[in-house]
Amino acid sequence: MAVYAITGGAGFIGSHLADDLLADGHHVRVLDDLSTGRRSQVDSRSDLIVADVCDTAALARLLDGADAVFHLAAIASVIRSNEDWIGTNRVNLGGTVAVLEVARRAGGIPVVYASSAAIYGNQPGPADEALTPAPRSAYGADKFGSEMHAGIAFSVHAVPTFGVRFFNVYGPRQDPRSPYSGVISIFAERIAHQERLVIHGDGRQLRDFVYVDDAVRHLRAGLRLLQDAPRAAVVNVCTGSGTSILELARTIGQISGKRPDIEFAPAREGDIRLSIGDPARARALLGISANTSLQDGLAATLASKLPIAV
Ligand code: NAD
Ligand code: UD1
Repeated sequence: MAVYAITGGAGFIGSHLADDLLADGHHVRVLDDLSTGRRSQVDSRSDLIVADVCDTAALARLLDGADAVFHLAAIASVIRSNEDWIGTNRVNLGGTVAVLEVARRAGGIPVVYASSAAIYGNQPGPADEALTPAPRSAYGADKFGSEMHAGIAFSVHAVPTFGVRFFNVYGPRQDPRSPYSGVISIFAERIAHQERLVIHGDGRQLRDFVYVDDAVRHLRAGLRLLQDAPRAAVVNVCTGSGTSILELARTIGQISGKRPDIEFAPAREGDIRLSIGDPARARALLGISANTSLQDGLAATLASKLPIAV
């Protein structure tokens, strides 16, 4: 049994990761400020520290005796990062540096952390890791900055780091409550309540949708890689194929057996037209790929949203 620390472990991806680690008999410690995460998503077998990710004293308690830390806490919204530049930078970049520093003080605990496809900005086609990052949002810039600091953590301080550049992750428990929530969580919720879907722009923008179980497998495989041989690495977590938002709405309609009512609204400021990743490096380094089909992943997501009959 190992002890794993997860920042952001009350959130969407973090809570799935925690469940997966617990199912394998490991001990899980979560640090989360519960800003978008929920206490109800933290399994009673884990320890929960309610604190800010920049609080180094709380991080020291989180990492005390831990075998590794998964750093997922962030303000995961592109739009919010443009509206609250200073506040999101404090958490999204400052939080990463705080985790790396506390991992260093704790003797070089391996750090697996969430980066994002947002570092690429507007890409010409499927992005591989050799493409020069060109973020178009403060959020993407902070994720890119996090990768730079994770590189320093290894080269200067011998802290092994592994960054996962998540493309659009979806699945059960993704919070649909904010207007900045992931598109699948919003569409699934609206379809379940027979509400109209709003498509921003012409709906032809492409996204590479990754089911949350695949995201968790990549996080855990990243840690195994660091345990085999310390390094600083980053990989895309993606399927390699794109789905337009229009096609997504249609597919969700088909699976749920409901014809979606669609309204078009202006495109979001700075919205990326094409976001598709090349999964080759993940496959080569980790030996896995994000292979859950959109059909299967959506079916599982929609099943978790079915209104409970009373
Ligand atoms: P989420 O909002 O569900 O999870 C983030 C968690 O961090 C939440 O539980 C939140 O309460 C916590 N948090 C936020 N600010 C904090 C702070 N100051 N101190 C402590 N905890 C704080 O989002 P998610 O989708 O699970 O994202 C997890 C990670 O993956 C994030 O780093 C995000 O940027 C990254 N990511 C997600 C996606 C996606 O498609 N969901 C894509 C790319 C990258
Ligand atoms: C998402 C992630 C971000 C991550 C990035 C990686 C969320 C909330 N954001 O940003 O953390 O770093 O992927 O690539 O998961 N849309 C609609 N109608 C809606 C909601 C959205 O048309 O009701 C459109 C948006 O305009 C956008 C697309 O759907 O074109 C996807 O939007 P969204 O799910 O918010 O994700 P990204 O902006 O791609």
